[in-house]
Amino acid sequence: MNDPKERITRLRDELNRHNYNYYVLNSPEISDRDFDMMMKELERLEREHPDLDDPLSPTHRVGSDLTQGFTQVVHERPMLSLANTYSIDEVDEWCTRVSDTLGGETPTLVGEMKFDGTSISLLYRHGRLIRAVTRGDGEKGDDVTTNIMTIKSIPLTLKGNNIPDEFEIRGEIVLPWDAFERLNRQRAIDEEALFANPRNAAAGTLKMLNPSEVSRRGLDAYFYYLIGDNLPADNHYDNMLQAREWGFKVSDSMTLLNSIADVDRFINYWADTRKTLPVATDGLVFKVNSLRQQLNLGFTAKSPRWAIAYKFPAERALTKLRYVSFEVGRMGVITPVANLEPVLLSGTTVKRASLHNADIVAQLDIHEGDMLYVEKGGEIIPKITGVDTAARNPDSQRVRFVTHCPACGTPLVRQEDEAAWVCPNKYGCTPQLIGRIEHYVGRRMMNIDGIGEENSRILFETGLINDIADLYTLTAEQLKTTGGFGNRTAERIIEGIEASKQVPFERVVYALSIPYVGETVAKKLARSVSDIDRLMEMSLEELTAIEDIGPRIAESIIEYFAVPLNREIIERLRSAGVRMSVDKIEGATRSDALAGKSIVISGVFARHSRDEYKELIELHGGKNVASISKKTDYVLAGDNMGPSKLEKATKLGIPIIDENRFLEMIGEKDFDTETLL
Ligand code: IVH
Repeated sequence: MNDPKERITRLRDELNRHNYNYYVLNSPEISDRDFDMMMKELERLEREHPDLDDPLSPTHRVGSDLTQGFTQVVHERPMLSLANTYSIDEVDEWCTRVSDTLGGETPTLVGEMKFDGTSISLLYRHGRLIRAVTRGDGEKGDDVTTNIMTIKSIPLTLKGNNIPDEFEIRGEIVLPWDAFERLNRQRAIDEEALFANPRNAAAGTLKMLNPSEVSRRGLDAYFYYLIGDNLPADNHYDNMLQAREWGFKVSDSMTLLNSIADVDRFINYWADTRKTLPVATDGLVFKVNSLRQQLNLGFTAKSPRWAIAYKFPAERALTKLRYVSFEVGRMGVITPVANLEPVLLSGTTVKRASLHNADIVAQLDIHEGDMLYVEKGGEIIPKITGVDTAARNPDSQRVRFVTHCPACGTPLVRQEDEAAWVCPNKYGCTPQLIGRIEHYVGRRMMNIDGIGEENSRILFETGLINDIADLYTLTAEQLKTTGGFGNRTAERIIEGIEASKQVPFERVVYALSIPYVGETVAKKLARSVSDIDRLMEMSLEELTAIEDIGPRIAESIIEYFAVPLNREIIERLRSAGVRMSVDKIEGATRSDALAGKSIVISGVFARHSRDEYKELIELHGGKNVASISKKTDYVLAGDNMGPSKLEKATKLGIPIIDENRFLEMIGEKDFDTETLL
């Protein structure tokens, strides 16, 4: 592609998509390095072709992590990012440039770890935490004070001397390696998507709407930037030492550096030593120490000139390709997978790596038996980044992408603008049929206990079920005789199927496997449309009028409901008792579970509105009161509960319950404990 205009458009689209994956879905597809490289290429092209610049280009903004459900706060000083480089030479050049700008003065620098988490800004007044705000889009962030207060290493009140009346301190919220591994182990057991890296896990956790779950996950925080009018010292290093005295966690790695040679030594030392740290780091940061010099150097629109980040290269290994397999997903997408001679990489053995799609296979120009470079740049799934062409056998053939579905033989199709080849035989291709059953029963969907990947396959292959609606006619007897399941498993499966009839409508929408309707979109749809009959008859215009529903999603929904088989499955699910509309509070049962209890509601909730909670308290015999006193029995706390309320409740020893606990108390089953990420 030589046309710069086309390249620029392509890069912008790709970067926008990756930004969305990273900031909204917390699920990046590419490494930071690849992202940075694309961004740099786009920056260069826009510089060379100023006529093609666009104020809305991804180069003009810092990423955004804003989430609905949190109150937004404008940062008094914008939260910028850091200029970064992967080259030691460029760090050295930056040192020289800084020194030149300062008129030849050689500045003392501070070397620090670049913690790989999510940034946070804390505001303190009179030694007390006032609020905690995420970076957001740099200008404004989400108020996550309640969640931050669960992090034990963050001081809520400060100790020591020289504390300014008001100051801001910025740092990084991280999930230490051991907590990250524990969390992912549990998610694997629960069949939930794994977090790609501790950074995504930290960012996702910080945005959870349930502070007690946040508390369980074990976040930690390191601080690296003090801002205010009356700081104790005139340099960064001493200010951070003071902050440490006040109770903040400031990394021991912070070091004063007096020359380029010191900087290079610091880089060489940490290149390996960082692997012994309890938290993930993705590089080092160098800062000019003197605040006066910082002031002289100033900022660009995106980052301070007085600091630079050096990013560590991703770990890489070379191994031989055994063969490429082509796997069919539940939506029919064909994924090429490189099956490799096992190789050790950053502590784990790698045998398989996704090649993503045909474009990537073609770009890499992989031949049979090639020696491939594998990288694990902060992501869990390793990635093939290149071929050692010198080691190639000259007779070996180029790996060809399949033209027909490896499972059912149907010719593959490719949609315009999409990288993926797809098997269009949606209703006859076995891995797609099984994949949709597997998705339906999954924990985040209908959560049918006893059926996972393996049992979905058995149920299908033994002919017990052909589609998801058949689940509801299964008997324990059939499971035992035809399926070969034991007594206990059969019972468990039947119970799980029965319980799935209580799953909220939004999860049913997600469970249906409508292309492009993921968890978030399903929630949006269910909450704005509220029943399936309405959803089935909506036009493109009506669908796209819903927030975040674009034409591609809308078309996919219309196409899905146009298929008679899908409508028939929905009717069968409906008659089986699966929820096809949102649960109405009016239908809630009455009880005296809360008889005589005074309950204060505070914060924002995920499962019902505040008004609905008021109604529920009354339906169950309780009383909703406005403010906390000795007479309060419970505080029903959502997100962003005010710190003063939290403090008061804690002081008076009043139990604070989250919405799941509350719903449990009134006998509503706890299904949706996860977050609205
Ligand atoms: S200084 C105005 N120091 O890296 C610059 N940032 O790529 C303030 N980060 O948004 C940032 N470790 O989230 C600084 N020792 C460190 C850091 C650090 C990690 C993060 C931070 C920032 C991002 C920039």
